[in-house]
Amino acid sequence: MAEQGLHEDVSAKLLAWYDAHARNLPWRAKRGIAPDPYHVWLSEIMLQQTTVAAVRDYYIKFLSRWPTVSDLAKASQEDVLRAWAGLGYYARARNLHACATRVVSDWKGKFPDTEEALRTLPGVGPYTAAAIAAIAFDRPHAAVDGNVERVMARVYAIETPLPASKPLIKLKAQALVPRERAGDFAQAMMDLGATICTPRIANCAICPWTDDCEGSSRGIAESLPRKAPKAKIPTRRGIAFWVERDDGHILLRQRPQKGLLGGMMEIPSTPWEAKLPCDIVAPVESAWSKLKAPVEHTFTHFHLQLSVWKTATAEKSLPDGGGYRWVHKDELNHEALPSLMRKVAAVALK
Ligand code: ADE
Repeated sequence: MAEQGLHEDVSAKLLAWYDAHARNLPWRAKRGIAPDPYHVWLSEIMLQQTTVAAVRDYYIKFLSRWPTVSDLAKASQEDVLRAWAGLGYYARARNLHACATRVVSDWKGKFPDTEEALRTLPGVGPYTAAAIAAIAFDRPHAAVDGNVERVMARVYAIETPLPASKPLIKLKAQALVPRERAGDFAQAMMDLGATICTPRIANCAICPWTDDCEGSSRGIAESLPRKAPKAKIPTRRGIAFWVERDDGHILLRQRPQKGLLGGMMEIPSTPWEAKLPCDIVAPVESAWSKLKAPVEHTFTHFHLQLSVWKTATAEKSLPDGGGYRWVHKDELNHEALPSLMRKVAAVALK
């Protein structure tokens, strides 16, 4: 019981700090107004592996275009992917659309209100289910992302490196969740990690938990969390073919639905392998000039060096093989082009 009381005291300090310092974020319900589960879900999916700064405008755009989950379910996958272009990790956009469809077909357009049921939805993993259950429905779950891991590792001076320390961190975070205001508590933890207890600087002097933090009292906060060394990821190579027609149209191709960047558009390219193919097959026969520096991009599991080859043509027909389209270069930003391909377009147009 003593422990419970201590936890309540610690949680109350964070909630008091949140009342004074909560960030003003477009997906946050105003105080005293019930959060809309659609808003919470949409923001949480967008915020997976992406920063608040990058998400803001996309969130506002999605919400004005598709104000309810039913509107989003009615959209075509292509439109959703297009609107998502630039946010990265495109499986999230396909799952977003699949999830909206499922909420309409299986849940009459209302998000389920338990963590367990939320987890059955496409694209909703353990973290996201906990975050939605807490923020949208005030259920007492801890939403532990990278920021919260850092805060917990510091507060409890957990020196075991990540990822081995994850289960302990999760237990510690769960024990702090208050019986009331679990949603505010989850968001307060996120804000503390984002604005005070930041990766390089812990700002203990202005932290509401400074008297409760073992990492701070031992002077090791900023060295935590420790991390097991990352496995090096391999490099793959490929060639992207920039074909520009004399009227300013560029040759694009849709990627297969399955696999990396599935269903997105691309500047046609060779497969991406450890070595460039010996016999390079370009989409059109032409005289190519090679740009000096390759475009570099890091995916979760590999690093890519994509050389860019350019050619000009007057030919209006499309290559064999399907999926090709001509798109005017002024219209490229309306296409579902992933960030990598936007980089290719930027260097090719320079
Ligand atoms: N990161 C993940 N979810 C978040 C949220 N709801 N608010 C701010 N940052 C977040």
